[in-house]
Amino acid sequence: MSPVSKEVEISKYNLDQEKLKKLEEYIDGLEVKEGELINILHEAQDIFGYLPEELQLFISRKLGISAAKVFGVVTFYSFFTMEPKGKHVISVCMGTACFVKGADKILNEFRKLLNIKEGSSTEDGMFTIDTLRCVGACGLAPVVIVDGKVFGRVKVEDVQNIIKQYSTEDALVGSK
Ligand code: FES
Repeated sequence: MSPVSKEVEISKYNLDQEKLKKLEEYIDGLEVKEGELINILHEAQDIFGYLPEELQLFISRKLGISAAKVFGVVTFYSFFTMEPKGKHVISVCMGTACFVKGADKILNEFRKLLNIKEGSSTEDGMFTIDTLRCVGACGLAPVVIVDGKVFGRVKVEDVQNIIKQYSTEDALVGSK
């Protein structure tokens, strides 16, 4: 079997060293084949929250493959992001059932109130808006998921309250 991964000096990277170590351990534990790249990128995104260029460079050196190849995969799949995510991730389901029930209007309201487009984050790093394909809760359409919590039968008027709820929770935690 070919060597699993290359020796790379992680201190050279201007990235969180603890996180980088965790990723390195994960990679070292694999019998790396090219087909594992997607899994490694998933793991890296789970650990770091996003895939900045330097992290992609680290992965390419560690696997002994070109940075262009890693970049190509990251930009090809929409579930990979090169932008840091906000503290709260708002995902609007755009599957057919949700769309029919007005998911686009819900999405527009989030966009308008937070002043960002889907795939991006507010300047204060509080919120990110994302879209999803059917999440399997069509009976609750239209569905919005915030940090893994499902909101069903969401109306345009609810959007402001959802945002407020998460802004207020942070204010309460901050004042404790
Ligand atoms: S289409 Fe949104 S949950 Fe199925």
